Amino acid sequence: MRRPFVAGNWKMNGTRDGAKRLAAGVAEGVSGLEGVDVAVCPPYVFIPEVAQVLEGTKVAVGAQDVAKEQQGAYTGEVSGGMLKEFACRYVIVGHSERREYYCEDDALVAEKFASAQRDGLLPILCVGEKLEDREAGRTEDVVRDQLEAVLDRNGISAFAEAVIAYEPVWAIGTGRTATPDQAQEVHRFIRDLLSAADAEVAAGVRILYGGSVKAANAAELFAMPDIDGGLIGGASLDVAEFTTICRSAAV
Ligand code: 13P
Repeated sequence: MRRPFVAGNWKMNGTRDGAKRLAAGVAEGVSGLEGVDVAVCPPYVFIPEVAQVLEGTKVAVGAQDVAKEQQGAYTGEVSGGMLKEFACRYVIVGHSERREYYCEDDALVAEKFASAQRDGLLPILCVGEKLEDREAGRTEDVVRDQLEAVLDRNGISAFAEAVIAYEPVWAIGTGRTATPDQAQEVHRFIRDLLSAADAEVAAGVRILYGGSVKAANAAELFAMPDIDGGLIGGASLDVAEFTTICRSAAV
């Protein structure tokens, strides 16, 4: 069925040497581990060396963002084609930190999703509500709007070559994890929403949970029927934590 997937989002952390050490530690920690796909998403500048360290291992490389354009006068941007040249397989799009701090709206996220796929990368599309949305009972409305923007732009078939990450904003970096039931409810909602467009695509798409996942709580989250792995922030910077999380996802 769906193969579990655990990706580490290193965010803007680490040093050049530290990134290489972390990558090597993860590769060693998950070598021989079957039944789960594993990726790490370092900051752009570390990608070439991390990709070298990971070559021939089971750990794939992803980026944390991508330009919507393919090339040209876009100062500061990095295109999907450039990432592809450095062995990236995945790219995170629409992370809540990009939405919040860099004013990325649903339309831009939908363009970035398209851009990633145009260049042969698998987007990891992040969606999730803020605390005030949840408290006002608007979780499903927010997640629906975020998904529909990408669906309207790219069509349901695009989700056959993509990953979704449900990351409630209130759970990111706060130590406050969604309960397995809370997460499952939204994961189910996402799958049902996609299913209305194409049941087969919906059944096949991997939906990761992200938000304060740690070695200590990963197994109970991954045991839920619609949670297919995790997108891990803080805990992905620690080899032992991250590899334990990967092990909890393996089937
Ligand atoms: P934390 O695991 O640090 O809460 O971050 C989650 C996240 O934002 C992954 O993209």
